[in-house]
Amino acid sequence: MTASVPSFVGAGNLVYRADRVPHFVRGEGAYLWSTDGRRYLDAEAANGSVPFGYDSGLLDEALRHCRDLPALPSFCESELRLDVLARIERLVGDVVGEPGRVELDLGGAQGMETALRIAFSAVGPGAVVVFEGAFHGRSGMTSMLSSSPRYRELLAGWGLEVVRLPTPDCARCPHAVVDAGCTTGCRAAVRRWGSELSGVGGPDSTRKVSAFVFESIQNVAGMVEPDHALLRNAVAHARRNGAVVIADEIFTGMHRTGPRWGFQRSGVRPDIVVASKALTNGAAALSAVWAREPLADPARYRPGSHSSTFIAIPHALGVARAVLDRWDRWPQAQADVEALGERMAVRLRRLRVGHPDLVRDVTTFGGAARIVLTGDHAARLRGLCLTADPQVGLVVAATGMSPDVINIHPPLVISDADLDVMTDVLDTSLRRLSERKESS
Ligand SMILES: Cc1ncc(COP(=O)(O)O)c(C=O)c1O
Repeated sequence: MTASVPSFVGAGNLVYRADRVPHFVRGEGAYLWSTDGRRYLDAEAANGSVPFGYDSGLLDEALRHCRDLPALPSFCESELRLDVLARIERLVGDVVGEPGRVELDLGGAQGMETALRIAFSAVGPGAVVVFEGAFHGRSGMTSMLSSSPRYRELLAGWGLEVVRLPTPDCARCPHAVVDAGCTTGCRAAVRRWGSELSGVGGPDSTRKVSAFVFESIQNVAGMVEPDHALLRNAVAHARRNGAVVIADEIFTGMHRTGPRWGFQRSGVRPDIVVASKALTNGAAALSAVWAREPLADPARYRPGSHSSTFIAIPHALGVARAVLDRWDRWPQAQADVEALGERMAVRLRRLRVGHPDLVRDVTTFGGAARIVLTGDHAARLRGLCLTADPQVGLVVAATGMSPDVINIHPPLVISDADLDVMTDVLDTSLRRLSERKESS
């Protein structure tokens, strides 16, 4: 069913460091197949990158869009690139209510670096404020924003000053009144950057704060949604201090949580929006950085500020155009994804009732969900989901930053029948986990 990691494999890319893992050879719909023909329901979907499921038709469409273009480097213009840029600009600009400019980049982390460059070129370099639990990628600069010291320690020489506001996860916040969410005190605390909290001062200080970066739902922290008033306070305070507000929509963008952009949930209006995963359905490396005018005006953010040979590679643009066509053909995506959240919630709540010793809480956010366990069992449960059911495996996510949380983010087109399969496999895996706990 699984195979061990061969000696020639550099394991640095392997997020799940198990000794034995399935080797996948095919994907269709919400399913993956391994070399031995076993079927896996993919409720992880390349960390939420595959909203439309596995669909080779999409690649055929992409190829039609790009097959006549030569392999243009990022310093050449094409009609295909202009079409993709214009469509992404509208997707963000129409929601923010202002025009913007769109830069492309290679992936999520690089897109976040581009966002920071645009912010720094507008207001000057300075400290970056994030919430505890933040994750914005593993590149040199974005590792420094991460709350996990593991991502930072191998690049210890980086000089970015990062200020961490307390976690927005009420379940982990030492000030939380049980189940009551953020208190007035918590909401006010995000306005005290500096002085008490971090030493970074306000508008009169020479130690400037240049950017506030947030995820509408923290992915790697275990699917944590900041209290909306807390987030609005943090954004307002950032603006008062002259910082640029950057929304990392790499995971939450394009309806993962219901609305087109995650920031619509709280009503904040960012200055810069970074999107990536759902723009190419996981089939090409591409991110897009939308910046409100005039932040990325060429007079400030000069040509060549951030370029790389393969940013405008026609294959990625062709995939983006094909995926944008799919989004255009799904005008009711928000309502459908919100309904998906309800359908998942009904099923996951059954697991909480059935396994009160192991499941503390479940929450859904449109096409994403968190299962909070009663202890740090997520890695073991994730492993059991792959193997416990003889008929079908289930792929879910668990992270080192939140070892008691299972993250779920299946293709947004997942059917009710497949949600039932997901729930059954989770149920079986929880039972196995309980048996093992009892016998150990
Ligand atoms: C919220 C968020 N930001 C940034 C990233 C980094 O993107 P990439 O892995 O494409 O560099 C991710 C990837 O999981 C993410 O979920």
